[in-house]
Amino acid sequence: MAKFIIEGQQKLKGSIEVLGAKNAALIIITACCLLEGETTLENVPNILDIQKIINILEKMGVKFTRYHHQLKIDTTNLRKENPNPKLVGAIRASIVLVGPLLARFDQLNIPHPGGCTIGSRPIDLHIWALKQLGVAVKEVGKTYEFLKVKDLTKPVTITFPKISVGATENTILYACMQEQEIKIKNAAIEPEIIDLIDFLRKTGIKIKVASRTITINGQKQLKAVSHTIIPDRIEAGTFMILSAITKNPLKITGIRPDHLKILFEKFKEIGVDFDLGEDFAYIKKSEKILPTEISTAEYPGFPTDLQPPFGVLLTQAEGKSYIKENLFENRMGYLAELTKMGAKIELLSSTKAEITGLTPLKSAKIHSLDLRAGATLLIAALIASGTTEILQAENIDRGYEKIEERLKAIGSKIKRVK
Ligand code: UD1
Repeated sequence: MAKFIIEGQQKLKGSIEVLGAKNAALIIITACCLLEGETTLENVPNILDIQKIINILEKMGVKFTRYHHQLKIDTTNLRKENPNPKLVGAIRASIVLVGPLLARFDQLNIPHPGGCTIGSRPIDLHIWALKQLGVAVKEVGKTYEFLKVKDLTKPVTITFPKISVGATENTILYACMQEQEIKIKNAAIEPEIIDLIDFLRKTGIKIKVASRTITINGQKQLKAVSHTIIPDRIEAGTFMILSAITKNPLKITGIRPDHLKILFEKFKEIGVDFDLGEDFAYIKKSEKILPTEISTAEYPGFPTDLQPPFGVLLTQAEGKSYIKENLFENRMGYLAELTKMGAKIELLSSTKAEITGLTPLKSAKIHSLDLRAGATLLIAALIASGTTEILQAENIDRGYEKIEERLKAIGSKIKRVK
């Protein structure tokens, strides 16, 4: 296990470029299983989570060729077999292999996907939706057996009882190869899902999105295409928060400002000033950060993945702030690590916290508990006095490419130690 050693309070300056969206790239790579031939994806980040999905599909005959951020995916020799259970166990997002592989091969066995520290993460909504589309699902020990019983003979409308990104994605991907119209109501409409839909439209599938309703008119053959992955809004938000908290103006480039409206609204509310361009944000030095409340929600609400980075920003706000996490039951663990660094935090429940600022942060030996918590602690370390050690650096590598090199390029002192 590697660790990061960070000497805080360095002057940061310049610009930092945002790379392709992890969650869009993951799902679009799995969507390639619906196509036969070679697809070219641009702007695919070179991160651990993407590599894990590649490892699973390589074992099933898919050929990947990477050139920087371009990824060519050749599914000509994709075999009808079950994904390797051990590799599936290594990544939660492997659950979205179910939709495309089942659509293509009618049958699939897969264990419950990778462990996760942020909550229990059930897959009941995925199973429920696929059952509405004529799929039989059996749980045998820790393995789910999916079997397409029949092709649909008439249009189907399904209304999700709760919004789920992964379950919406799996349903869309399965629906792509059904020749009856499938309407998904109360669907998730995160930008990553819209990117998936844009990709699928290029392959020939007809998909409409109106509010939270997605209508799919699938077909049996989809053509291989080229596509550029959208920028990662969570990475963009993380870097903007980094600039705001260090009070070092930075230009964050290669972004889609329209994907981050809620963050910009919050910035305005708490006194973080910025200029926006078509594809960049310039975060200015703010004199004083004001306290606020955030409550996470599905897009276009405040993203749960930005809750931890925003939480560290609130330790530097003058007064009492409140955080309410509504999507995952175990996403406040990073607050205990921030407390070790001097933050004043009271857990009001397992999903609600009060943060009292402004508290200077000091160095400590801390654990990067999961991907977003890890990035959050990196930000905390950059404003802390002294030298901070962040253990389990790999958790950060899951979602942020070459993070130490990119942070060094803007002036931070950070070292990776094996
Ligand atoms: C995706 C993102 C993750 C983000 C999350 C919410 C990927 C690879 N991951 O995760 O970064 O934090 O969306 O924006 O894209 N739920 C159920 N039953 C289910 C499925 C989900 O109860 O079958 C619950 C979950 O426990 C959670 C909520 O629904 O409370 C939302 O989860 P979901 O939107 O499915 O998140 P993921 O797709 O796992």
